Amino acid sequence: RSSYPFHGEHQQGIVTPAQSTSAFVAFDVTVEGRKDLEQLLRTITERARFLTSGGRPDDTGITGPPSDSGLLGAMVPADGLTVTLSLGASLFDDRLGLGDAKPARLRTMEDFPNDDLDRSQCDGDLLLQICAHHPDTVLHALRDLTRATRGGMQIRWRKDGFVSPPRPSGTPRNLLGFKDGTASPATASPAAENALVWTRAVRGEPAWVAGGSYHVVRLIRMLVEFWDRVSIHEQENMIGRRRDSGAPLTGSHEFDDPHYELDPTGDVIQLDAHIRLANPRTTSSESEQMLRRPYNYDSGVDPNGNLDMGLIFACFNQDLDRQFVAVQKRLVDEPLVDYISPVGGGYFFSPPGAKTASDWLASGAF
Ligand code: HEM
Repeated sequence: RSSYPFHGEHQQGIVTPAQSTSAFVAFDVTVEGRKDLEQLLRTITERARFLTSGGRPDDTGITGPPSDSGLLGAMVPADGLTVTLSLGASLFDDRLGLGDAKPARLRTMEDFPNDDLDRSQCDGDLLLQICAHHPDTVLHALRDLTRATRGGMQIRWRKDGFVSPPRPSGTPRNLLGFKDGTASPATASPAAENALVWTRAVRGEPAWVAGGSYHVVRLIRMLVEFWDRVSIHEQENMIGRRRDSGAPLTGSHEFDDPHYELDPTGDVIQLDAHIRLANPRTTSSESEQMLRRPYNYDSGVDPNGNLDMGLIFACFNQDLDRQFVAVQKRLVDEPLVDYISPVGGGYFFSPPGAKTASDWLASGAF
């Protein structure tokens, strides 16, 4: 689609089918008080509203810089742009007086075993997830948003991502060469969305969070030079699926059920295979499923001459602990950890959508 509605109960960019390019940009706010923070959030909302609908930018005076970077020409196309705002735990600390509104499970991302987190690439007061059909549209939006909010927030970290086209069909592949996103229950039906994606005002959550979602981002480097030296058999055992078709090792088509009940001792799909640990498909693991919305990243070369690429693992959860954290804990020490290295990311909360032209994102927290 060429545009996604900005107003609604939920923010765009969550159940929206993943566009091909993205930027994940975390910011620290530099405003002093609650009133200025409100103004900052209103500005982000206004710019996102304009950019995601497209149109002609404001006229430019004859003096001073032009009102638009011009990257997309005189008429700004929507180009499938979505701008999703998420809030970090630090936004609710003593500085800004928003403590009472803090989503109950929001916190600084913990270190998991095998993590190698660079804290300068983690967390942040705000996160913008900007996605569109083309990279120049993403960059145009980022330039517009940073320019409009200058003085109110400062970039903390940024990672740009892309999704490959289906090769040759089905779900796109990640940079280990495997299809990524096959098992995606959370958007299968509105009932699944309501059970897995949208946060509700229960279990200690403040009322305003209803309709939002816990947004987890993990920047996971892939040690591709090592991976490319592993036999296909071993690769497939680590994941639990075939590399070519994406089928579970117990099946023949991508969307076949893995049928763990027919392989209780893990003779075909190992008990510690990634997909089996991530979702053992027991009754209790049903409510742990999440909405994954990952992107590949390529950041060139590290100082040692190794390829610096990996996965921007992004997911949305009704309940951070019941879903992402429970699954991540089970994945600790899976065989795949020798080939991946989490280096950054954070926990965020995506507030519900802006409902009308006068509403603004996170207004419920004020
Ligand atoms: C499934 C790769 C990190 C959770 C998969 C699949 C692949 C894959 C190839 C199978 C296809 C699919 O159903 O999408 C990777 C790689 C990772 C990574 C390369 C790191 C670089 C994570 C993390 C989590 C996670 C951090 C959550 C904590 C899942 C889940 C499934 C899955 C829930 C679906 C399992 C199912 O329902 O059958 N992953 N993954 N993955 N992964 Fe990951």
